[in-house]
Amino acid sequence: MSDKNKGLIHGRILVTGGTGSWGHELCTQLLEITEVTEIIVLSRNEHKQVEMEREFNSKRMRFVIGDVRDKDSLLDSMSGINVVFHLAALKHVPVCERNSWQTVETNIIGTHNVVMCAMEAKVEIVVDVSTDKAVEPHNIYGITKACGEKLVTNAQHNYDTSTKFVCVRGGNVMGTNGSVLPLFKKQIQTLNRLTVTDPGMTRFLMSTREAIHLIFEAVSIAQGGETFVMRMQSIEVARIAEAMIAKYGDEKTRIEVIGARPGEKKHEVLISRSEIPHTYELSDRYFVIIPEIGRERYAPIIKQGKLTELQEFSSQNAPTLSNEAFLSQLGAEAWA
Ligand SMILES: NC(=O)c1ccc[n+]([C@@H]2O[C@H](COP(=O)([O-])OP(=O)(O)OC[C@H]3O[C@@H](n4cnc5c(N)ncnc54)[C@H](OP(=O)(O)O)[C@@H]3O)[C@@H](O)[C@H]2O)c1
Repeated sequence: MSDKNKGLIHGRILVTGGTGSWGHELCTQLLEITEVTEIIVLSRNEHKQVEMEREFNSKRMRFVIGDVRDKDSLLDSMSGINVVFHLAALKHVPVCERNSWQTVETNIIGTHNVVMCAMEAKVEIVVDVSTDKAVEPHNIYGITKACGEKLVTNAQHNYDTSTKFVCVRGGNVMGTNGSVLPLFKKQIQTLNRLTVTDPGMTRFLMSTREAIHLIFEAVSIAQGGETFVMRMQSIEVARIAEAMIAKYGDEKTRIEVIGARPGEKKHEVLISRSEIPHTYELSDRYFVIIPEIGRERYAPIIKQGKLTELQEFSSQNAPTLSNEAFLSQLGAEAWA
């Protein structure tokens, strides 16, 4: 990261949901920034916190039991915070489908609480991590993440606030909790077969390290109110299965097709057709969707970037992740 970018992520950082997959990598990269004086990880499960505290063993980290649904405890944790990374969410599609209201409470009410507390505590910038599943959503996880995005980006214009609010939207990140890749590895090693929902399905895919790096880059140019979209490559599920068999299996490994699960789409979308008229290409690493109101605030982005000529950005039309690139990214994952 350049020195300019480092300066923007400084001081005391609050990471909601910091014990999860993204949280681990985010905290690792935050600790590489000397201007970061303290990282406060807020989540509910004490066991995950104890494990992470032992693993990181850093005097610059503090672990706080809290729930984003509880505004009072959230406000306490925001006191004196410079930057908030909001990661806490319920995110497993089938679990969210079965627990719809719980998903609303965490992903919508929780995000609203983060917005309101950040303004009250005069936090400098809030970064909300969102997902391709929030675009043209088919399931309650995506619907609640879409509401979360709107709560965050609208806050910039709905309130007279010094806090900057930014969303960063990405697709699947390799090996995160619930990802299909560790499951494929386990299925091959224990059963010598793997279950594929739909071989023709396509998914965006990126390494966790790269995804976090992109979040930092986005923060460095955010004016507040934008949604930054990672320019991810995509891959067919059948090719993921083949590459995983090449790495872990043998000629006897079987693929069993089990059909899509409720709420799953064949192809994911990172930028919808309706967002395209407000989407700028500013870097070969991300797109920026600017709000439809208050355009003068985004003059630097409009001036430096160019309106995208894409019709939409979906896992069907995105650049393809080659087998070699996939296997090389996989090789860099600690679990692989
Ligand atoms: N994984 C991906 O591929 C992907 C892609 C795009 C976007 N995202 C987004 O990135 C974020 C992080 O995802 P992840 O993969 O790291 O998820 P994860 O591994 O499941 O971690 C979720 C984190 O949120 C915490 N949490 C859940 N409910 C909470 C609550 N009510 N209050 C406080 N903390 C709570 C969990 O800890 P406790 O359970 O102990 O509270 C955990 O630390 C999510 O917002 C997700 O939507 C993920």
